[in-house]
Amino acid sequence: MEYQQIINSIYNEVLLLENKGTVADYIPELEKVNSNKFGIALIDNHQNNYSIGDAKEKFSIQSISKVLTTAIIFSKIGNDLWQRVGFEPSGNAFNSLVQLEYENGIPRNPFINAGALVIADLMLSHFDNPKAYFLNFIRELAENEAIDYNETVAQSEKEHGFRNAALVNYIKSFHNITNAPEDVLDFYFYQCSIEMTCEDLAKVFQLFSHNGLIPKSKTKFLTTSQCKRMNALMQMCGFYDQAGEFTFKVGLPGKSGVGGGVVAIYPNHYTVAVWSPKLNKKGNSYYGLETLERLTTITEASIF
Ligand code: DON
Repeated sequence: MEYQQIINSIYNEVLLLENKGTVADYIPELEKVNSNKFGIALIDNHQNNYSIGDAKEKFSIQSISKVLTTAIIFSKIGNDLWQRVGFEPSGNAFNSLVQLEYENGIPRNPFINAGALVIADLMLSHFDNPKAYFLNFIRELAENEAIDYNETVAQSEKEHGFRNAALVNYIKSFHNITNAPEDVLDFYFYQCSIEMTCEDLAKVFQLFSHNGLIPKSKTKFLTTSQCKRMNALMQMCGFYDQAGEFTFKVGLPGKSGVGGGVVAIYPNHYTVAVWSPKLNKKGNSYYGLETLERLTTITEASIF
């Protein structure tokens, strides 16, 4: 497949679209980004790299980090995880509080903020230094020691993260958070602040296109069944209340973040990462979704 040619032509076509999105401003530090950035990186399962635009520039991965913390905890505790968090799509916004009350503090899935906070709590319970473990894990997958947390972004979110503070305290009232809420929030804001490029992101997510194997070290980090479940979660929950539309139009498992990143996986074929900071009303990158819809349409290949 001529992936370089394909992403070049998609890039040029999408750039001509009027971008109807807006940059996330509820984390003030994220608003400072140049909203015209646009990059695409694709890695096929033979380790060939293809990229265009701002694919070598780092950005805040935000919610995309939730897939990685979930994978770590799933590999560590297996199916016991599902006692603490569900695996159903929420049909609600990423930061919604409403379902928690009638579902007794068990978040619908690990990718809405409520679920990611429970996973962050589990990270604190299972690792002496979860921040160091998480960063090393990502650096290893990306084969890039320069990847780091952005303390200014983490601090900015800490100062404005009233909804996440409400979520973690509310879940704790149902005894589904075991650590101190401020410690859970601290780890969560740091995990979201990690910065990397589209090229790094496509590399990191190879774990999910290789059935749970880290291609470089040949370590089987997730069992094949666990990897199937991670991809199923991304398919059903990766785009919150737009997960149906993403499945309908793109047909791949994936995950978005409010930094404007989107990553998608075509199991056994490729991973692809797109970055464009302007978001649609559901908090997903406008150009990101336009790009991925064209990719699976032009290649006539998706999981369906
Ligand atoms: O907790 C938050 O609101 C952000 N740190 C992450 C949200 C996010 O990326 C949602 N994704 N589209």
